Amino acid sequence: QLPKQVTIKEVGPRDGLQNEKMHISTADKVQLVNLLGQTGLNYIEVTSFVHPKWIPQLADAVEVLQAIKRHKDITYAALVPNMRGLERALQAEVDEVSIFMSASESHNQSNINKTIEDTFPILEEVVVGAQAAKKHVRGYISTVIGCPYEGYIHPDKVLRVTEKLLEMGVTEISLGDTIGVGVPTQVEFLLEELLKRYPAEKFAMHFHDTRGTALANIMKSLEMGITKFDSALGGLGGCPYAKGASGNVATEDLLYLFDEMGIETGVDRQKVLEAALFIEEKLGKAVASKQMAIVRNE
Ligand code: HMG
Ligand code: MG
Repeated sequence: QLPKQVTIKEVGPRDGLQNEKMHISTADKVQLVNLLGQTGLNYIEVTSFVHPKWIPQLADAVEVLQAIKRHKDITYAALVPNMRGLERALQAEVDEVSIFMSASESHNQSNINKTIEDTFPILEEVVVGAQAAKKHVRGYISTVIGCPYEGYIHPDKVLRVTEKLLEMGVTEISLGDTIGVGVPTQVEFLLEELLKRYPAEKFAMHFHDTRGTALANIMKSLEMGITKFDSALGGLGGCPYAKGASGNVATEDLLYLFDEMGIETGVDRQKVLEAALFIEEKLGKAVASKQMAIVRNE
């Protein structure tokens, strides 16, 4: 029995844009978030408070978050790597904080410049600070199936980080197949191990579609009771610090799947396509989603 209702967490303005070379103006980012705010989505990851030297595209995080039109039923979230990032995020009145680290040592090192062990106290400080400001904290774990440097990642490594993040008080873990290498049998093995210990509500899945396996992995996750999925409009996305990472599963493609299967999302696919058309024009290139390819051929 599949879930009747799921939640889509839109990460396009953050995960999508962080990997784009073409500079998008602050006003266009604001417009993108405002368009997404009219689609029925109730969760939008707007930007990232990482070091601007590491992700120049999102250097205007404070300005973007302060300029968007807020809807009271939408959670506007952002990535935060450390206390410096939290200060900026709180200044911009973020609704929810997302901390992030990796299951694999070498990706953690290349992405946030620290060992896994040294990352825990830094993130713990952020969680304590965010909770003091009455913000929920979401925790991302990257490279949960494969790492660009270490290859296959065993679920034990994911469990270790999951345990620590939940102990710190994150409300939800987003499991990232950062470089899009996973296949359904691996997703099943990973989730079996995690769901022996924790309820499905604790997890969201974050699939990059580098090898075209994202929707298959999402079906497997659904069958195992997961009801929260991250996606990016237009299939944008990637991690500049994970060689070979490409776009997230496209929100509009995920919506096609859920809509046609009668699984409720509350999101209007047509309106997501309009937002995808907007950002495609600003990026000056065709985005990678199947649904957008259909629109273009009409
Ligand atoms: P670091 O250089 O080790 O930082 O970077 P540091 O703590 O040593 O500080 C160095 C300087 O940077 C200091 O300035 C800090 O104040 C400043 P100085 O005193 O030298 O003048 N600084 C900052 N400034 C502004 N905002 C900040 C900040 N932090 C320090 N937040 C750090 C460590 C984590 C900051 C850096 O490595 C970084 O920003 N990494 C981010 C990389 C990134 O954004 N990757 C992509 C997102 S993760 C992802 O895409 C995966 C995901 O989608 C899930 C999946 O797909 O798997 C989430
Ligand atoms: Mg990602």
